[in-house]
Amino acid sequence: MRLLPEPSAQSLRLLFLFVFVMGVTPSPALTAGCPERCVCDDQLVVQCAGQELTLFPNDLPLATRQLIISNNRIGDLPALQLNYLSDLVYLDCSNNSLTEISESTFGNLRKLAYLDLSFNTLLQIEDRTFGALASLVMLRLTDNPSLGEIHPDAFSENMALQVLDVSRNNLTALNISSLIALPTLRSLGLSGNPWSCDCDTEDLCLWVQIEGFKFQGEDG
Ligand SMILES: *[C@@H]1O[C@H](CO)[C@@H](O)[C@H](O)[C@H]1NC(C)=O
Ligand SMILES: *[C@@H]1O[C@H](CO)[C@@H](O)[C@H](O)[C@H]1NC(C)=O
Ligand SMILES: *[C@@H]1O[C@H](CO)[C@@H](O)[C@H](O)[C@H]1NC(C)=O
Repeated sequence: MRLLPEPSAQSLRLLFLFVFVMGVTPSPALTAGCPERCVCDDQLVVQCAGQELTLFPNDLPLATRQLIISNNRIGDLPALQLNYLSDLVYLDCSNNSLTEISESTFGNLRKLAYLDLSFNTLLQIEDRTFGALASLVMLRLTDNPSLGEIHPDAFSENMALQVLDVSRNNLTALNISSLIALPTLRSLGLSGNPWSCDCDTEDLCLWVQIEGFKFQGEDG
C-alpha cells in the first residue's frame, strides 16, 4: 500500500461536478421540486448547508446526485427517504447531530462515492453500516468525540475505498488487517485517537507511527 497525499473533498466534489456537467442533461421534470431552505441546480446538486435544519430535508428530487446538508443540527438520517436517492454520488452530512446510523441507512446507495460524517456525535459503527456502498471512494469519519467503536468488518465490503479518515474520535482499536485487505486503499487518517497498543494491535500501532510521520508538521 502506498501512502499518497489525499485529494481534498473540494477537489473530489469538483471532479464529480465536472463529470455531471459533461455527462448528463437532466430533464426539467426531475428537478421541479426543491426542499424548503435548500438550493437545487440543474446538475442535480441540492445544497442545504447551514440552514439550522433539525430534520432531513423533505421532497428531495429523486434524481439528486449531490446532497449537502452539512452545518445543520440534523439528528437522524431516515433510511426510507435517503434510499429513494439511488443515484446519489456525493453526500455531505458533516457537522450535524447524528448519534447513530442504522444498518439500513445507506442500504440502497450503490453509486455513492463520497460520504462525510465528520463533526457529528456518533457513538459506534456496526458491521453492516457501509455494507452496500460498493462505489465508496472517500469516507470522512473524523471529529466524533464519543465514537469509541468501529466493528472490525465495517469496511470489508467497500472494495473501491481509497481514502478513509477516522482521526480525532475516541477509538482505542481498529482492525488494520481488514483495512490492508482493501485493494485500493491508499490513505488512512488515524491521528488524535486514544489508541491502546498491545500485542493484539501491533499492526495498528505501526500504522499510527507511520501516519504520525506522514502528517508531521501538517496539523501542528
Ligand atoms: C458547524 O455548523 C455551525 C452552524 O452553521 C457553525 O457555526 C460551525 O462553525 C460549524 N463547525 C464546523 C466545525 O464546521
Ligand atoms: C472515550 O472512551 C472512554 C472509555 O474508553 C470513556 O471513558 C470516555 O468518556 C469517552 N469519551 C467521550 C468524549 O465520550
Ligand atoms: C481482523 O480482521 C481479520 C480479517 O477480516 C480477521 O481475520 C481477524 O480475526 C480480525 N481481528 C480482530 C481482532 O477482530
